[in-house]
Amino acid sequence: MTDASNYDQVWAYHNRTKHRLERYAASPETLDWTSQPNPFREFSGAPKISLPFADSQLTTAFADLYQPSAVSPQGFNLHSIGILFELSLAISAWKEYGPDRWALRCNPSSGNLHPTEGYLLCTGIPDLSDGVYHYVSRDHVLEQRFNPVSNPVPSDGTKLFIALSSIHWREAWKYGERAFRYCQHDVGHAIGALRYAAAALGWSVRIVQNLSSERLAELIGINRNQDFIGAEQEEPELLLEFYTNTAADLVPLPGWELAQGEWLGLANTLDPHPMYHWPVIDEVAAATQYPATVWKTTQTIPAYPPITQSNNAAADVIIRQRRSAQHFDGKSTLSASVFYHILDSLLPRPAPPWDVWPSPPRLHLLLFVHRVHGLSPGLYVLARSRSAETQLKATLKPEFSWLRPHDCPEHLPLYQLATADCTQAARTLSCHQAIASHGFFSLGMLAEFKATLNDSPWRYRELFWEAGLIGQVLYLEAEAAGVRGTGIGCYFDDPVHDVFGLSGHSFQSIYHFTVGYPLQDNRIMTLPPYPDRT
Ligand SMILES: Cc1cc2nc3c(=O)[nH]c(=O)nc-3n(C[C@H](O)[C@H](O)[C@H](O)COP(=O)(O)O)c2cc1C
Repeated sequence: MTDASNYDQVWAYHNRTKHRLERYAASPETLDWTSQPNPFREFSGAPKISLPFADSQLTTAFADLYQPSAVSPQGFNLHSIGILFELSLAISAWKEYGPDRWALRCNPSSGNLHPTEGYLLCTGIPDLSDGVYHYVSRDHVLEQRFNPVSNPVPSDGTKLFIALSSIHWREAWKYGERAFRYCQHDVGHAIGALRYAAAALGWSVRIVQNLSSERLAELIGINRNQDFIGAEQEEPELLLEFYTNTAADLVPLPGWELAQGEWLGLANTLDPHPMYHWPVIDEVAAATQYPATVWKTTQTIPAYPPITQSNNAAADVIIRQRRSAQHFDGKSTLSASVFYHILDSLLPRPAPPWDVWPSPPRLHLLLFVHRVHGLSPGLYVLARSRSAETQLKATLKPEFSWLRPHDCPEHLPLYQLATADCTQAARTLSCHQAIASHGFFSLGMLAEFKATLNDSPWRYRELFWEAGLIGQVLYLEAEAAGVRGTGIGCYFDDPVHDVFGLSGHSFQSIYHFTVGYPLQDNRIMTLPPYPDRT
């Protein structure tokens, strides 16, 4: 299929999975909560390796995460790999309410359904044999999936990669056709979670370029149908490479397919009785498979001043305490300086977490400001690139004022578009959810859609990954500021565009977020993530 027809297919998927005021995107009409898919993939028969925990041995402060040279890099070993997973994809707490018990993880997930799986690929690590491992967050263990009995070719030194895959059915079980979007958001959050965790260890991370979806599936063995009989398939997403010095040469991928070895374990079935099938998810996944291509495109990113974070609390505490707020108090205000700082942390910079992102920013923020001290309530826009600022000025409603808030830092491209009480509008647009109106502000992430996807439809995934990464930064920055955020996947797509005067394919709002002062539900008990750990 040509890229042009793939674009049409991607657009058709995106368009049909919009929530409209008159009807939601197609999803199950009823849900049997007792038949929720198992949130934990396992490979029976694969040898398990317990991972160590950070305990009190990680001393990195949250403020140091943004300064690449502030954290001395730890060596690659089982303990540091344990910390990497513990602070990214691991369970952060169990929750209990009456007979219900559920796990939360450091990475958030739409509906807490966690479609993202993590695979470690490594060579030359002390106390861990070379191979491919699947991470099971429930037990904080690695399952060895591939054991190269001969060295991969070429074998030279230490390599550490984590691949991410998605199990679409976990999200589709609840959300139907829109689920592919949520899986992609969750990948973006996981990229962010892994980038922060690596920064806490003093490591750098990059997305491996020139890797097709097909090759990634081969590398981590998720193309092996014989190991997934009766089990839900996994979709390859991307591969992250970890390194300890800031300017490492690209290391070759392990040549697993050239090495002799054995694949171990059989995937479990997560949902023995799936009630629905949503073929458009398979179709959009196929239309957005990666060819072996580079991500980088040339675009000059302005040199913003380095970000300074004043919260010196332990990084692992902030990371583990990240939660989605379920209710906000609807009255507290946020200081303008904290608001500006949170937005500033979303601008691309050559430091964590944005140094993991190889493409120019393609997402910009449409803000509904409700309660920020010193700022008029109303509609605002933050353009994350100069070219987008120009384009948005020409595209958004002509009557917008484009005023700079008087005390806004000079480099922060924030503009007020209109003064208004937009609490009710924000709530309605976010599927009538009160969290969008009861916080300090909520926002929509506006993607450069048509220009990005026209000749590279696979970048549909990248747009959502960038959105998830923005979301992860917002979650952690909100925690660091003593407040709380929540990702919002449920919003009415075109009515959001209408408020800002957008039509056509050029821009699409692809994720929403809200930040406010959280109210706790004291009826829900919080229990430790790994009560039986030794
Ligand atoms: C992509 C995405 C979309 C989400 N959409 C909503 C939403 O529309 N409404 C909501 O209340 N929470 C939403 N959430 C929050 C999740 O419900 C939450 O992450 C999940 O229950 C796990 O809880 P935790 O974030 O506290 O770990 C979303 C989260 C993500 C990552």
